[in-house]
Order: sequence, then structure tokens, then C-alpha cells
Amino acid sequence: MKIEFRDDPIVQIPAAALVAVSFEGSPSGSGTVAQLPEETRALIADLETAEFSGKSYECVSIQKPAGLAARRLLVVGGGKPEKVDANQLRRVAGTAVRYLRARGIHEVTWLLHRGVASGVSEGAVQAIVEGAILADYDADRYRSERGAEKRIDRLDFATDGGGTSEALRAAERGRVIAEAANFTRNLVNEPSNLMTPTVLAEAAQTMAAHFGLDCQVLGPEEIRALKMGAFWGVAQGSDEPPRLIVLRYVPEGAPTETVVGPMIGLVGKGITFDTGGISIKPAADMHEMKTDMAGGAAMLGVMRAIAQLKPRVRVLAVVPATENMLSGRAFKPGDVITSMSGKTIEILNTDAEGRLVLADAITYAKQLGATVVIDAATLTGAISIALGNITTGVFGWSKDWVNRVLSAAAATGEKMWQLPVDDDYRDLYKSTIADLANIGGRYGGSITAAMFVGEFAGDTPWVHLDIAGTRWSNEEKPYLAKGPTGAPVRTLVHLLTQALTPT
Ligand code: BES
Ligand code: MN
Ligand code: ZN
Repeated sequence: MKIEFRDDPIVQIPAAALVAVSFEGSPSGSGTVAQLPEETRALIADLETAEFSGKSYECVSIQKPAGLAARRLLVVGGGKPEKVDANQLRRVAGTAVRYLRARGIHEVTWLLHRGVASGVSEGAVQAIVEGAILADYDADRYRSERGAEKRIDRLDFATDGGGTSEALRAAERGRVIAEAANFTRNLVNEPSNLMTPTVLAEAAQTMAAHFGLDCQVLGPEEIRALKMGAFWGVAQGSDEPPRLIVLRYVPEGAPTETVVGPMIGLVGKGITFDTGGISIKPAADMHEMKTDMAGGAAMLGVMRAIAQLKPRVRVLAVVPATENMLSGRAFKPGDVITSMSGKTIEILNTDAEGRLVLADAITYAKQLGATVVIDAATLTGAISIALGNITTGVFGWSKDWVNRVLSAAAATGEKMWQLPVDDDYRDLYKSTIADLANIGGRYGGSITAAMFVGEFAGDTPWVHLDIAGTRWSNEEKPYLAKGPTGAPVRTLVHLLTQALTPT
């Protein structure tokens, strides 16, 4: 999607579709609709309020609108004026894009609020670009009748006399972030026969080469040589060889040793298919387990974005990728395995595999120098019981780092909520014969899973994001397709590029 700013008078723009926004209470006189000529607003007033009342995501399209050179005017409802913020604008922009692309329109001209482009609200420009690109996505790669021809090619901002320099940068940021989220969505959407650990690693390598990141991929021998007994325990049952994907970002012009401040270790669960193993899952929803690499895919998306946005912080990504299969070689309930950290683990359920691969990946990230660990994983079904598919669960002992992640989430419109970790839960995953058991029972399942992972972070500040609920959206929204969401790419990119100011 090409993004440009134009400052010619809005009445003269021969746009395929000019988009203006107005709000409840004053559908023909608020928002950017207020910037339209009198005679154009009169058309909207005529539709008030039976056909258009300004409610969120309501759309009304007017062909050959009086007073404008545009071929079509699309007015989108922004909802209650007191509730409008960047997050709402992102959705409103997404709504406009999905409305127009469904009607064969490929070029969108977005009327900016006067003053927005002059730097008052770069956040708004970024959010609109993000909303547009996130909305211009459908998980339809394998449909013969694809919507590819429906895509929006151009987004023009009509500045209505405002300046553009900061706005240009904001638009670029928005583009990088939304494209990274869409990259992640594509990986998550792939079926497991086509998205094996090998293919995921190749995708990481191709991406890294394109954006100038360092990428290393380890195979079965190296994984065993590193004594990653927990990762190997999961991987050993599959005919697909596991891959350990390692990506590094170092700020430009600064050799690793001279960059001070934290080295953030991003660890993402990369189970390309989770059958549950010998503790096999029921058939009904098993196909959804192709998305069990969403945490890993998200970390690849984050790296893709920061390679372009270039923050002054070192970032490392570690993605343990494997299938969790049953076979004559698969690990079994009752088995005891030794993790890379040396801690022994009694396997009580082979379906609690995510925490095992994360355990060794976190140990490895620390060994490579990570001073803070953030993991994202489709770890527990229980998180959807607690928070639904709307909100990501956030866990961690470090108040400071948990709060940084929560405020980054709030700034990007991804919903997150902290759940507790507490020493009193530790008894739940004790083993009678090993250091730890890999499950903690039915109650507080997301908490014990998180805490098990945290055991391997040790004293290193650590934040865990359980995205089992938020990785996928089961409903089509006016502003977003059904399918993979790209969570939590936006939050982590924001955290790394705007919320950390390394000294
Ligand atoms: N990958 C699943 C969790 C999951 C469930 C992700 C639904 C996305 C949607 C994870 O590996 C798993 O199987 N967890 C078990 C843990 C249990 C055995 C303690 C679960 O949640 O049932
Ligand atoms: Mn599982
Ligand atoms: Zn899993």
C-alpha cells in the first residue's frame, strides 16, 4: 500500500473515495465532516439519523457528492466523540478500508483533521495507517477465488492545509508495524503441512537477510549437543526435525560490547503442530493447533519491525520450533527429562509441551546474554476461560517490566491484563521424583504454566504473555478479518522502540 500526503484543496481532489469521519450527536457537523463544504454536509444531514447517526463503524457512501470533485464520499461513524482516541481511529480507518475494498475500490483518500498533520497528533496518522494495513488483509491464501484483487493500493492523506514532516514519519512507522503484524498473521495462518519447523526457520532466514538481521538456525544435533533435554523431549516424537531459530538485532554503528542498557531476549513458542503427544488432544478442535507457533511468529514479526525502526537497544529472539507428535519415539507421561538448565522435569502430561520448549529457549537466551526475557506463547487453553479471546494474559515477578509491557499494550490498542504469580502456587507443580512436574493441575492452569516457565528465567527480569486466546479472532469485525491477529507484535514493537530509553 502506497501512502502519500497531498495538500491541494479537498474540494478539488478527484479521489476514487474520500473518507470523512463524524460522531454521534452531530453526524453532519463533527469530526472531519465539519471540514466539508456546506452543500456536501447538507447531503449527510439529509440521511440523519435514520441512515447515518455517527455510531461506531457505521458507513454511508455517497456517489458524486455535491461540492466535491471526489467520485465518492464515504462517511464513517466514529462513535461517541468523548471516546475517540488513536485506538478508535485505527478501527475506524480499518472499517473504511474493508468497506471500500469489498466494493472494488483500490484507492482511499483519508481526510485528516486540520492540525493533525502539523504534528499535533502524529499518533493519529500512525494509527490510521496501521488500521488501514491491518484491515487490508484476509486469510484467503488457499482460496482459489482470492480477494487479492480486492487489495487497497493507495492511501492518500488529504492534509487540508496542514504540514506533513512529522506525519510522514508517523505514517512510515505505522506501515512498518502493521506490515510486521501481517507477516506474523501469514505465518500463523499457514497449515502445519506447509509450515514445518524447517519452513518456519527458512521464513526467518529470508526475512533476516532482507532486513539485515543476524540469523542462526540450529538443528537436531546442535539442540542435543546443547543438552536441551526439555526441547528435545518434545521434538523427539516427530519425523520433522526441530529448529532453534536465533535472530539478533544490534543498533547500527555500535558493536555489541559498547551498547549499554538491557539486552532484551524475546522467546516465542514455535510448536508448528500440537497433537498433545501421547496425552493426545480431542479431535474436535485439534486443527486449531496449527497456530501453536503464534508466539514464535510474533517474535519474528517484532524483529522484522525493529530491523526497520532501529531502536537503540539490543534485541535477541529465540524461537524453539518443533511439532508435538505421538510416535514410537515420542516422550511419555512419567518420563523424566533434564533441561538445559540442569533442572529435571517429570512429564505428567505430554500436552504441556510449550513450557518445556520455552524452558530451554529461555536458558539459551540468557546464555547468549539476554538481561531481560519476554516470552509469548499459546500456552494454555485456560487463559481463554479467564480472559476470553480479547485479552492477553500478562505474568511476571518484575512489577517494573510487567508495567512497561502493560503500558505499551495500552498505547497500541492490544488488550492485556496482568494475572498473578505467587510462591504459594509453586507447590502445585512439585514432582515426587524430579525437580519439577510439567503440570500444576486444573486450577489456575495459566498461572502454574507461566510460573513453570518463570522458573527458568530465574533472577532475570521476565514477562510472559499467554496469547492462546488472542492469537486468533473467531469473528469477522468491520475493521479486521477473521483469523490470525498478529498479537502481540504491536505491543512489543512499541515497547522496544518507544518505551525503552537505554542510557
Ligand atoms: N497449545 C496448547 C494451548 C492452547 C489451547 C493454545 C487452545 C491455543 C488454543 C498447550 O500446549 C496445551 O495443550 N496446554 C494444555 C495444558 C494442560 C495439559 C496442563 C491445556 O491448556 O489444556
Ligand atoms: Mn499442548
Ligand atoms: Zn501447545
